[in-house]
Amino acid sequence: MRVKNADVLLSGTNITKVFGYGKHKKTAVQDVSFSFHEGEIVSIVGESGSGKTTLAKMLMGLLKETSGEVRYRGKPRQLKSHADRKKYWKDIQAIFQDPFSSFNVFHKVEKLLTDCMKLQGLKLTKEEQFRKMKEACSFVNLKFEELHNKYPFELSGGQMQRLMIARIFMLHPKILIADEPTSMIDACSRSTILDMLLKLRKENNMTIIFITHDVGLAYYVSDTLYIMEKGRIVESGPAEDVILNPKHRYTQQLISDVPKIHEEWNLAN
Ligand SMILES: Nc1ncnc2c1ncn2[C@@H]1O[C@H](COP(=O)(O)OP(=O)(O)OP(=O)(O)O)[C@@H](O)[C@H]1O
Ligand SMILES: [Mg+2]
Repeated sequence: MRVKNADVLLSGTNITKVFGYGKHKKTAVQDVSFSFHEGEIVSIVGESGSGKTTLAKMLMGLLKETSGEVRYRGKPRQLKSHADRKKYWKDIQAIFQDPFSSFNVFHKVEKLLTDCMKLQGLKLTKEEQFRKMKEACSFVNLKFEELHNKYPFELSGGQMQRLMIARIFMLHPKILIADEPTSMIDACSRSTILDMLLKLRKENNMTIIFITHDVGLAYYVSDTLYIMEKGRIVESGPAEDVILNPKHRYTQQLISDVPKIHEEWNLAN
């Protein structure tokens, strides 16, 4: 594993989330435990409905767990006051499946980016702000001059995703949760976006929690894999171990659905 002696940043013990009551009760996440280290790339892999986004929202503190404990930097996570949440969200940021849900649609690109700097508590001159926004946009191959006056709905799915990464570049959080960031865009932008995330990790030693149903992609980008089935983590470990020597039936089934990995698996054995 890449991050052998790194500190545990975020961990959880027996995290469960139950939605609804009575006969409408649905356990979306059940008894999930994990520890994510500094600079680690973790993928949470599972098919649709397995509870990945629900878990991501609990990690972000956007949904409250029904039971279990989340710890941040070794201490129970506190999200009671506005100040607690503000502090936590400086360190942890997410890119969600639908980028439109993450932006205020009534704000133009320039305001979305200047708000980032406000969140960081940075006191910058207008010129410094422009320089930072231009730098962030060019990191994701967007031209600030062309976009600054546009509203989110005037951008393409790929441009939106890249704008989200530009925000991450400006905020440099300790942890980034990327929930299927590539699902809305074509294969070409998909690999560019993955490369950008990997570059961000390299530059900032950011922890990335990558959420996907694509086990091949997860293997390609991650140090560690968590395999999720029906709300439970059924298998976890270093990506190579999990893929080349899968123990659980569900992991084996996921892998057998990916011809390329299967070939490598055969070669390795
Ligand atoms: N607010 C909610 N109220 C009730 N049930 C919910 C709610 N949110 C999610 N669920 C249910 O919890 C389960 C897990 O949903 P979740 O969105 O976490 O899955 P997912 O793994 O992210 O799926 P996908 O890959 O399709 O995004 C699903 O059965 C879903 O219907
Ligand atoms: Mg989801």
